[in-house]
Amino acid sequence: MKNKRSSQWFQTPGYHGMARRAWLRSEGYPADVFDGKPIVGICNSWSELNNCNAHLREVATAVKRGVLAAGGIPLEFPTISLGEMFMLPTTMMFRNLMAMDVEESIRANPLDAVVLLCGCDKTTPAQLMGAASADIPAIVVPGGPMLAGQFQGQRLGSGTDGRKLFDLYRTGRLTDEEWSEVEGCIARTSGHCTVMGTASTMTSLAEALGMTLPGSASIPAPDSRRMAIAELSGRAVVELIEKGLTPSRVLTREAFENAITVLMALGGSTNAVVHLIAIAGRVGIRLTLDDFDRIARKTPCVVNVKPSGEYLMEDLFHAGGVPAVMNRIAGLLHGGCATVNGKTIGENIATTHSANDDVIRPRDRALSAEGGIAVLCGNLAPDGAVIKVTAASAELLQHRGPAYVFETRDQMMAEIDRDDLPVDRNTVLVMRNCGPKGAPGFPEWGHIPMPRKLLQQGVTDMVRISDARMSGTSFGTVILHVAPESAVGGPLAVVKTGDEIVLDVGARKLELAVAQDEIEGRLASFQVPPRHYERGYGRLFLDHVTQANLGCDFDFLMPEVNR
Ligand code: FES
Repeated sequence: MKNKRSSQWFQTPGYHGMARRAWLRSEGYPADVFDGKPIVGICNSWSELNNCNAHLREVATAVKRGVLAAGGIPLEFPTISLGEMFMLPTTMMFRNLMAMDVEESIRANPLDAVVLLCGCDKTTPAQLMGAASADIPAIVVPGGPMLAGQFQGQRLGSGTDGRKLFDLYRTGRLTDEEWSEVEGCIARTSGHCTVMGTASTMTSLAEALGMTLPGSASIPAPDSRRMAIAELSGRAVVELIEKGLTPSRVLTREAFENAITVLMALGGSTNAVVHLIAIAGRVGIRLTLDDFDRIARKTPCVVNVKPSGEYLMEDLFHAGGVPAVMNRIAGLLHGGCATVNGKTIGENIATTHSANDDVIRPRDRALSAEGGIAVLCGNLAPDGAVIKVTAASAELLQHRGPAYVFETRDQMMAEIDRDDLPVDRNTVLVMRNCGPKGAPGFPEWGHIPMPRKLLQQGVTDMVRISDARMSGTSFGTVILHVAPESAVGGPLAVVKTGDEIVLDVGARKLELAVAQDEIEGRLASFQVPPRHYERGYGRLFLDHVTQANLGCDFDFLMPEVNR
């Protein structure tokens, strides 16, 4: 293979070329490794601090077999890994850091192409953002979902069922022993969460974007076919170098519209809105919240997987996975988009079909006629907010009620189980200072737990509003990503307990029923809260993170057009 990028390192005349060759040969490679073989990086987010990605070294071994079989040289390298369960204050604070690590590791090294190994929530968007900016040929290989656990005869969807069972435990309906049993089986293998949470959504959207081989997203982590598709991806990436197919040629506006369409059909995570905007921004495409709402209105939610539906990722895999979902909504997709196997999306899905019409519903039996996510606007969220309609209660989608305001999450956690908390089923819970700058890091705190006293009365849902995100595994009538956030002076900052709030999802409205001059008067005396960091990465984050409607990328990493 001629004119390889890696030639700039290894074919340099003189001392430096010799030294680079020598140092690679020190890893045991013979001299003919430099006879035209392409170098393929395997960017591995493996970490024992991230259970979801803990098997990725085995996946990397399979990718290496494929690269070698196709005549390339695989070189595995680490990136930071973002384990959703462990990292504080939140993995979202480090997504951009990982994206920078990925981008600069690719750019600085003698790589002709890269295979991106990911799984847990933020690792997929971070890999895509970094690879899009570096723009050498790239394929994503997700680690796949974990296998479902079983508790008292019930299959458990990690995240979603854990939260439901926790409500039983904290209201005394599960014993300590039973709760411990749940702990032992809810995450029983490597791999990411088993429901259509953020991880499953983002790996499915990587596939919808054309950045994985078809069928990659839903194969369970322990399934032998996970290793097989990893090996095929290793072979395919070598061919990508010959074709010169870089991410910027795959990640077109039409490809992002396909991803948004699939997001809606999946009933996928609201976090995908932020991540897709950020990934698109890296290739100079400005996605707006209106793009999501426009596509949601014409896309049925056909995938019956928790938290919007009943099944798990394993079931989606057996039903045909993302290709079968895309086939079901083929008329809504841009079939001509390129993908990393050299074929178009339309060619890849032409012969796929659903093997289970209850998991991937026919369009006339869709879970909902419109997509799973709606974008709300109004004087409470001038730059938008989102709600996962398919995980909300139908009777609350049009609601008017008095606000009960928590200034911070700490206050909310301290008060939510008070027996004398002055709330009822009509109250709208409001929590602020939980956005990108306010929390900081835009954590998944938006799923405000139901007050215990209401749970005891049999109330299982109420309207909740914040400038936080929510785990893709969560559910409820929960309004998220309110922008601008309260910490920068968005109107959420001046809501008072007792103010009436009007939600009308059908009309896409979120309003504070307070006179505009009163709102402006309150905002005039708004004071910016103290900064959380004065040094290090935290300071960089606070100085440069953008708001939710812009994807929360750093302003200096986005092309100017998207800032
Ligand atoms: Fe990693 Fe859920 S904790 S995907």
